[in-house]
Amino acid sequence: MTLTEPLLPDASGLARAAQMLRDGGLVAFPTETVYGLGGDAQNSRAVAGIYEAKGRPRFNPLIVHVADLAMAETFAVFDARARALAQAFWPGPLTLVLPLREGVGLSPLVTAELDSVAIRIPAHPVALALIRAFGGPLAAPSANPSGKVSPTRAEHVAQGLSGRIGAILDGGPCAVGVESTILGLTGPATLLRPGGIALEKIEALIGPVALHQAGDPLTAPGQLASHYAPAAPLRLNCGPEPDAVHLGFGPSPEGIARATLNLSPSGDLTEAAANLFHILREADRLAGPRGRITAAPIPDHGLGRAINDRLSRAAAPRPSDGSA
Ligand code: TXA
Ligand code: MG
Repeated sequence: MTLTEPLLPDASGLARAAQMLRDGGLVAFPTETVYGLGGDAQNSRAVAGIYEAKGRPRFNPLIVHVADLAMAETFAVFDARARALAQAFWPGPLTLVLPLREGVGLSPLVTAELDSVAIRIPAHPVALALIRAFGGPLAAPSANPSGKVSPTRAEHVAQGLSGRIGAILDGGPCAVGVESTILGLTGPATLLRPGGIALEKIEALIGPVALHQAGDPLTAPGQLASHYAPAAPLRLNCGPEPDAVHLGFGPSPEGIARATLNLSPSGDLTEAAANLFHILREADRLAGPRGRITAAPIPDHGLGRAINDRLSRAAAPRPSDGSA
């Protein structure tokens, strides 16, 4: 077991992290959405290490993180829609799936040998400073063991991956709290994963976006049914129950549940997204080994769509149930 170094995102911490990346090592770093587990996207040994550390299936490709549009255009082919979206929302929580440029040095493991690449510019000063200090693209999935709740704080990363990765850059809690929206643009615009940029904002810019249907060939292979899973079973769209830990949204009844955690007492979807993964972890801890979790209904618009996507995967039957 290697030692995972905690690093502060100051000049010396960033220099140390960049050197580890150049040596093919793995560094967890903050983005505005969740913490990413970064490795050199042009080094297959580093990329293989990412799959290994997460226990992630190799058919599930990674997002390439770049510091600017010029770096993005080195690896992906942009059409007018992609340029308009990049201009409006980058840096920010939008990932574009675009045709891959061949022979530009990305490890084929990053794209799981597809002919498309998922790419984004994160809106976090530490992420951008790290990419610049390293000087190239970073492949980075969320920094959690595959299938588990995503990390929005450095301590969440340490809980899941300590001893399996080189370092964790601590940038405090993530502001957005759910992963980027993934938009497929290799054909008609298709929503592959709802996330930190609301679909309504994308449609306002480029017109109607198709919703991905299960079984479509153009799919984000990582969108497995069970994901973001706490240890305790989770039931959605219900009120508090005496023997369960309840996730409330908006003003919620007191004193009925075993414990009540509130995603946003004022009913604000942005706040609820920012709190979601931390509160899921807290609920799991409070529920204990034989406990259960219930969750209030969340409005299904704006960021609510991403929250409901994560909650429904967190509630889905687990592979270990023998039912998925
Ligand atoms: O906010 C985020 O997007 C975070 C931060 C770290 O940037 N990253 C993240 O990565 O959520 P990950 O690996 O947990 O999710 C990446 C998703 C997966 O569902 C994967 O299948 C999809 O992106 N994906 C990657 N490349 C793709 C491609 N070429 N075509 C379709 N889907 C792709
Ligand atoms: Mg993930």
